[in-house]
Amino acid sequence: MSVKFKYRRIPDETIRRLPVYLRGLLFSSQMGYKKISSRGLAEFVGVNPCQIRKDLSYFGDFGKRGVGYDIEKLAREIRKILKLDVVRSAVLVGAGNLGSAVLAYPGFKIYNFNIVAAFDSDPKKIGKKIKDIPIEDVCNITKLKRRKIDLGIIAVPRANAQKTADELVKAGVKAILNFSPCYITAPKRIKVVTIDIAMDLARLPYYMPTS
Ligand code: NAI
Repeated sequence: MSVKFKYRRIPDETIRRLPVYLRGLLFSSQMGYKKISSRGLAEFVGVNPCQIRKDLSYFGDFGKRGVGYDIEKLAREIRKILKLDVVRSAVLVGAGNLGSAVLAYPGFKIYNFNIVAAFDSDPKKIGKKIKDIPIEDVCNITKLKRRKIDLGIIAVPRANAQKTADELVKAGVKAILNFSPCYITAPKRIKVVTIDIAMDLARLPYYMPTS
């Protein structure tokens, strides 16, 4: 089974769903399953089976009709497609309430992310550690370039988010995960993903019944 990219342009929505499939496969493997059908995976992840088959078909033929997917193999292939098969180093800027929770979360390791450093501007936080990760002075962020960091995570107040992004770009990161509630810009080669729980909450009432 080889990973073949049948089409050059893979829809972003497909890429967005692949980690969801991977998570479903990891859970089903933990439950002791070895094989899973697209219908079975659909129940784990809440995406319809046709969509799963279509998404996977961009990359090759992974399953056998009537037998389903080999869970371990498919998980390995999805990791390869998403380039999660290599360890990525990350740094976090802003070790406040949210940043501390991110630093303490053990769940990023499953996807090969390793947060190796954190930066803050508050002298009271600099020099302390969260889960063995030292908090460094943000003034030294430019020195990061030598450490060849893959990803930057922004958890500073909104007013400082763009400046932080610019510093991370200068420090050589190749992608940014932004938790600050604002749009930030970066050169085209740098992928920026912004996560905002408030934005997701803000669209929920629209779907709620009016009493
Ligand atoms: P916080 O005030 O507890 O932490 C912010 C930290 O950033 C502080 O430690 C502060 O010293 C540090 N900081 C400020 N300017 C800095 C700079 N230029 N360089 C380095 N460190 C700097 O705030 P909290 O609650 O942790 O929120 C952090 C950010 O995440 C805010 O922008 C907030 O709006 C956002 N947020 C986003 C959520 C989401 O769903 N995406 C949920 C909660 C917060």
